Amino acid sequence: MLLLTSPRIREHEITDRSVYLDRRRFLALGAAGALAMAALPARAAPLAAAKSGFTLAETLTTKEAVTGYNNFIELGNSKEAPAQLGPAYFRPQPWSVSVDGECAKPGTIAFEDLVSPHKLEERIYRMRCVEAWSMVIPWIGIPLADVIKRFEPNSKAKYVEFNTLVDPERLPGQRFSMYDWPYVEALRLDEAMNPLALLAVGLYGEELRPQNGAPIRLVVPWKYGFKSVKSIVRIRFTETAPRTTWMRIAPKEYGFYANVNPEVDHPRWSQGSERRIGEFLRRKTLPFNGYAEQVAGLYSSLDLVANF
Ligand code: MTE
Repeated sequence: MLLLTSPRIREHEITDRSVYLDRRRFLALGAAGALAMAALPARAAPLAAAKSGFTLAETLTTKEAVTGYNNFIELGNSKEAPAQLGPAYFRPQPWSVSVDGECAKPGTIAFEDLVSPHKLEERIYRMRCVEAWSMVIPWIGIPLADVIKRFEPNSKAKYVEFNTLVDPERLPGQRFSMYDWPYVEALRLDEAMNPLALLAVGLYGEELRPQNGAPIRLVVPWKYGFKSVKSIVRIRFTETAPRTTWMRIAPKEYGFYANVNPEVDHPRWSQGSERRIGEFLRRKTLPFNGYAEQVAGLYSSLDLVANF
């Protein structure tokens, strides 16, 4: 995410010195990762899924861009680093997810047992990053609502929080003190139960690669991409709104709801238009990223300008 850099100001001028030095060391790690990766196959296992009604008459972003231009700060700060470091460092097996908080069925569940009761489906969604670029991605996944129902959230559960793995061996960005790990994101429970919300386990007919959040990540297509937390190891039901990673880091720049909204600019750039990766001309950004019909009703009592 664009947090500390600007085209005119050099990073070390606006960044705490220890953070800046951490980043320099991290860039060196990126070079080492690229070398290590040269020895690894750049393939992912095939994954079959039924087509679904969630589709778009828009050109898909190429697989090369979807798997090569990423935001995953635990695997590096450039768009290229996650694809370079991920295959070298990150093994998503074995994997389990713990479920706790306000629910009747807490516990720890193996990734395979979490996913196998559900039918995998392919869904083509737009993804709009808060940095004002977008993609169209053929995800494979399972409806978040169906997974949540299995844990039986109780009447106190109003929100659901998701945490990314903390393991500096596998996610080497966590060796540096830049952020307070884990990466945390959350939804209001009714948002999470909306049929559009997906837990993705693959894309483009293959299992998720490390850089895209293997083995399981959230996809919430009407919100800015930073809500779609990667490599999930914990799901927690809460009564009060969790403090999410970007709200902690830059509360004036990133809000809890983060619904795509061309009317509410980021404090440092416009959200009125976007660059679709692979296209030359900019596109107008659509309210709720084009999903207003499905989700606008969730927010009828909210002032979205105030609650960005
Ligand atoms: N999840 C974690 N754990 N760490 C991250 O840095 N970046 C977010 C989101 N999920 C991020 C994350 C942002 S800013 C975006 S735009 C999307 O992942 C990018 O997903 P993609 O790389 O698969 O396109």
